[in-house]
Amino acid sequence: MKTFLKIIGFLFLGIVYTSLNCQAQSTINPFQFEIKKKLICKNGAVVSAHALASQAGVEILKMGGNAIDAAIATQLALAVVHPSAGNLGGGGFLVMQLQNGSSKTIDYREMAPASSHRNMYLDENGNAQFDKSQSGHLSSGVPGTVAGLFASHKYARLSFEKLIQPAIELAEKGFVISEREASSLNGLKQEFLKFNTVTPDFVKETKWKAGDTLIQKDLANTLKRISKNGAAGFYEGETAKLIVEEMQRGGGIISLNDLKNYRAIEREPHIFNYKGFTILGMPMPSSGGLLLHQMMKMIEKKPIATYGFQSPQAVQLMVEAERRAFADRAAFMGDADFYKVPVAEISSDKYLTKRMEDFVPGKAGNSQLIQPGILPAKESEETTHLNVIDKDGNAVSVTTTLNNSYGSRTIVGGAGFLMNDEMDDFSIKPGTPNMYGALGGEANAIEPGKRMLSSMTPTIVLKNNKPYLLVGTPGGTTIPTSVFQTIVNILDFEMSTEDAVWKPKFHHQWMPDRVDLERGFLPTTRKELETMGYKIVERGSIGRTEVIKKLRNGKFEVIADNRGDDAAEGW
Ligand code: GLY
Repeated sequence: MKTFLKIIGFLFLGIVYTSLNCQAQSTINPFQFEIKKKLICKNGAVVSAHALASQAGVEILKMGGNAIDAAIATQLALAVVHPSAGNLGGGGFLVMQLQNGSSKTIDYREMAPASSHRNMYLDENGNAQFDKSQSGHLSSGVPGTVAGLFASHKYARLSFEKLIQPAIELAEKGFVISEREASSLNGLKQEFLKFNTVTPDFVKETKWKAGDTLIQKDLANTLKRISKNGAAGFYEGETAKLIVEEMQRGGGIISLNDLKNYRAIEREPHIFNYKGFTILGMPMPSSGGLLLHQMMKMIEKKPIATYGFQSPQAVQLMVEAERRAFADRAAFMGDADFYKVPVAEISSDKYLTKRMEDFVPGKAGNSQLIQPGILPAKESEETTHLNVIDKDGNAVSVTTTLNNSYGSRTIVGGAGFLMNDEMDDFSIKPGTPNMYGALGGEANAIEPGKRMLSSMTPTIVLKNNKPYLLVGTPGGTTIPTSVFQTIVNILDFEMSTEDAVWKPKFHHQWMPDRVDLERGFLPTTRKELETMGYKIVERGSIGRTEVIKKLRNGKFEVIADNRGDDAAEGW
């Protein structure tokens, strides 16, 4: 066994960034911890947006918990140590493959409140009011996360009290923040003051700096109520009362009944085959599974491996698949409990082959001409992803979100957690882009009780029916395209897992008609794409992708994205 791979980080105020083979972990020390970017281990692994959350998950695995236990503990810890996206006041999706060979998904997406209506964000002239759908009290959907954690707990082994304990301690005693976290809290101080009637723990007189301790007493008390009373500790009683009072102080519409009536839903995964691998993804109301299916099938028959990673031919082919899938998203996708989404039709081989008939190698497509497909019959990016695997063969891939970074920026007074601004993921005005520039129509219009369309793409790739790759990322509409590229990088280009994750990515989403290239992208390919007629926009980080890969020797390779403080843990 290799003992040492390489040190890729540095000592920084109690946080050490490393890349090592894994060893037994000591108990969590929230004031001094390492950020590991790559690990190889054999008993179980967790990769998430924060080292302390990954450690919380691994501690649970060591206590005899399975991957589901660890995923619950990791999410709860993220709600404390990664407040920009980890959450109690948001929602998410979980895909799991269990040791008995069965697979499930849990939908805990937020829901439109009972008194919502399709025109609630339009002014008297019919103009979309994004200030209301993207921040503050009215932008929140009914949170789903806590219901989702309890729905997953059915598949776990340990008591919920055990799983929530690390989060309670992290909130109560505090943890040391990084420079990145300090700078994001400082940058949002005015927003936190603007959208809150009770000053939250994220605001202090002087500037935050790396090495400061963030203590969240109100959040600790909310977590204790959940520990004691279960989901009712959030959806009823004191916490529910605090949520509704907060809503009323700021013009929000979530009611006690909305909270009491919220349910997480177990759904069958969206499953498809790619070159002999079985891919498990999320069905509606996430577009993630279906978009991934469409994009992968549109390229499956092309000799992409011979084109090579980041070659103009490969990038062009994938961009055109992305364009066509996102055109279909805008027209056809929404909560399938409210709108008939033609899933089978737009994922059939016949449809997808036809969809690529107008693809011209070497010439940019045009989104005015390439509209949503003709149906055969009639017709903050701030999210967070985690993967967990255990030695018994259970695997969990979870993406959760508040939508924007720190969601609505409204913290429930006295309860200490952020509310989401997920209502903006509905099509608040058909044909008008949302904060990710995504278009939508009738399929994704607001209706009471409906869940807004998502791009979250928690994914498990099976080889011989056993978990082989666990993949996911935050990034709004760039989520499905990043997952697509990461899987193609590994399966087709046979890249090392860290290169597949860490190398620059690209993105096309039909409208606006342009290719986003991540900083550092190969300049020669950029030039060739421009010659083909593509409009190119260079941008900063695309996503924060986390991957666990099962190696041939049975061990787990765990890769945390180097675009953030994301961290791998295992034993
Ligand atoms: N809020 C981002 C998404 O669900 O796609």
